[in-house]
Amino acid sequence: MDILACDTDDRLTELLKINDELNHIKDIDSLLDAILYETRRLTNADAGSIFLIENRMLNFSYVQNDTLKKRDPLNNKQIYSNFAIPINETSIAGYVALKGKTLKIDDVEYIDDNVPYSFNRSFDKISGYNTKSMMTIPLVTTRGHVIGVMQIINAKDDKGNPIAFQSSDERYLSFFAGSATSAIEKAKMTREMILRMIKMAELRDPKETGSHVNRVASYSIELFQKWAEKRNFTHKEIKNYRDILRIAAMLHDVGKVAISDIILKKPARLNEDEFKIMKTHAYQGAKLFKGNVSDLDALSYDIAYTHHERWDGKGYPRRLKGEDIPIAGRIVALADVYDALISARVYKPAWEESDVITVLEKESGNHFDPELVEIFLSIYDVIKAIRMKFPDLDFKIFTS
Ligand code: C2E
Ligand code: SIN
Ligand code: SIN
Ligand code: SIN
Ligand code: FE
Ligand code: FE
Repeated sequence: MDILACDTDDRLTELLKINDELNHIKDIDSLLDAILYETRRLTNADAGSIFLIENRMLNFSYVQNDTLKKRDPLNNKQIYSNFAIPINETSIAGYVALKGKTLKIDDVEYIDDNVPYSFNRSFDKISGYNTKSMMTIPLVTTRGHVIGVMQIINAKDDKGNPIAFQSSDERYLSFFAGSATSAIEKAKMTREMILRMIKMAELRDPKETGSHVNRVASYSIELFQKWAEKRNFTHKEIKNYRDILRIAAMLHDVGKVAISDIILKKPARLNEDEFKIMKTHAYQGAKLFKGNVSDLDALSYDIAYTHHERWDGKGYPRRLKGEDIPIAGRIVALADVYDALISARVYKPAWEESDVITVLEKESGNHFDPELVEIFLSIYDVIKAIRMKFPDLDFKIFTS
């Protein structure tokens, strides 16, 4: 962990290596995870977060915190926090986004009276964390456009006590932030392309925001994480799989491109013939990924093809049963039905939460893999946090 001991050449070589790795990550959340992790490793920082600019606000997009993780190792709730802060001089992050310059604060207790920004204690108050030193770095593209900020918190000495960041950290990080920014831009483009594909396929409605697919993807990776941990998958295996699972899960219904609007948007129950046509979306989607040139294709194929199979073998299109259904298909089946029931659709209102839970319990071992239902209920506070993060209506919750 202690990179300060390395000489300059080693440090540069390492930066180049990380840069190369970042360029291979296509999913934006996995990318933010890797960027924060590497930044914190380079500076020996206890915590950090990334804010990305969306709708002229700094959206809290990713967080890591070793101390809080140690206190509550199984809780992933934090990363689904949802808040945004305005881009102005009153906050530290806002100031850095506005000026496009790195800000190093040795102790947030003692910020000069004559600067416009002040430290916002609300996060520390809620979490019980104690922020001391902070370095806030703008994420600037090569064209000079600020897309967000990265904030790292509490550099640690040998004994783990918080100390100020070093001036040398600042130089390395400005280089690193540049390559991180271009990787984020690329991942954003991939994500936008996928969202456009999904819009074309499922939503076809300018009011829709892609919330359903974001929620299904997030539930799915949380389910997978717990399932894989029980099987002692390595950290690296889990990370690699999460990366492609998010994208593949988002594409589960992409085969609906082939279904006419008359059926897809029918504001009533489908008749038998209509439902027969609707059911072809599973295979239609799978066909798009046939050939399996990449792991992502193979997984997208499996999920599109099998997300309507049932554990008891009564699903469609192939009536696969139990563990013959790939795990990703079993996971997305549960995530998809949960989200379909808890949300309103053109053909049905949202269900009461207690009724949805009752269905999951009743369908454990019938529609759904019982182990997955058990995991789902055990992480239900995370599931709810995901719903808060991706609400159906196009609004955000402001706290700061
Ligand atoms: P979807 O809306 O994403 O729903 C996914 C799955 O959630 C459904 O798969 C079903 O297993 C479950 N689900 C959703 N709503 C209900 C509900 O009110 N009751 C019950 N018991 N289960 C529900 P399924 O049935 O294979 O449907 C696949 C897709 O077909 C749906 O995706 C939706 O796009 C469409 N669809 C299904 N039924 C209707 C309908 O009556 N009218 C319209 N317009 N579309 C429908
Ligand atoms: C800020 O940068 O002032 C907001 C984020 C934080 O308080 O950590
Ligand atoms: C990729 O190119 O591997 C991801 C983007 C996509 O699925 O279109
Ligand atoms: C299912 O589609 O089997 C779950 C929903 C239900 O049976 O009510
Ligand atoms: Fe489907
Ligand atoms: Fe769906």
